[in-house]
Amino acid sequence: MAMLEVKNITISYQNRPTVMDFSMSLEKGQICSLVGESGSGKTTVIRAIFGLLAGGGKVTEGEILFEGESLLAYNKEQWRRLRGSDISMIFQDSGAMMNPTRRVGGAYTEYIRTHEKNISKKDAAKKGIEMLERMRLPSGDNVMRSYPFQLSGGMRQRVGIAMGMTYQPKLLLADEPTSALDVTTQAQIVRQMMELRENYGTSIIVVTHNLGVAAYMSDHIIVMRNGKIEDQGDRDYMLYHSENEYTHKLLEAVPSIGGKRYV
Ligand SMILES: Nc1ncnc2c1ncn2[C@@H]1O[C@H](COP(=O)(O)OP(=O)(O)OP(=O)(O)O)[C@@H](O)[C@H]1O
Ligand SMILES: [Mg+2]
Repeated sequence: MAMLEVKNITISYQNRPTVMDFSMSLEKGQICSLVGESGSGKTTVIRAIFGLLAGGGKVTEGEILFEGESLLAYNKEQWRRLRGSDISMIFQDSGAMMNPTRRVGGAYTEYIRTHEKNISKKDAAKKGIEMLERMRLPSGDNVMRSYPFQLSGGMRQRVGIAMGMTYQPKLLLADEPTSALDVTTQAQIVRQMMELRENYGTSIIVVTHNLGVAAYMSDHIIVMRNGKIEDQGDRDYMLYHSENEYTHKLLEAVPSIGGKRYV
């Protein structure tokens, strides 16, 4: 049985179908990328899987099964438990998700302490700092003392990534996790996500504009266009065998990261 099974879902905002007939499945330890132009529905799909569609969005057809259970039937309490532990999400706009009136450290230590009931404040802070530094944030303790507005967009994004990766979720949903970052840091974050998979068998769905990054890190790639799946396959298929014109265009647009073209 696949860990995640999305079957023919339609997702609508205000009764307007936006994503149509979308299906995917993901085994334990697999990485799948969603690529496609702006507005094609990538964020909509992963937010639907996370049960957190914005703007009154709803899954109006189909099924989403996680470890065999229908997520669409989950109540608030079940979602709360699932989101804190088994599934975590790095949001496209991590900065906007942060409470502007709280220091990063306050929010992060509290997050850690809801997962580890017996950890002291001091140890929780230490753990947070360690995670921040793994995301190439040079002085984690300074970041912990800062308010979100005192950090750059890229720094806030890395705080979001650190939090999402703290507890080795079974499924990590990452929405453009590296878009605001310089190339060296992008490459580091990509490596961190792959290590999470190596070390803990985490399954990952990553949304990215960069088909090169997608091909580099994924077992399976889904190309979306106008709310539908336009093309899909493994790395080899995407890079060498797809005859889809739209996929070819995306490939031509691949930038290099870290001085290296991942294609
Ligand atoms: N909260 C919302 N309310 C109404 N419509 C929305 C909402 N969020 C997204 N949409 C619509 O759904 C479609 C897909 O948007 P989505 O954000 O999923 O695209 P995306 O592929 O993630 O784009 P990007 O690459 O720019 O992040 C768009 O037409 C968008 O206008
Ligand atoms: Mg998006």
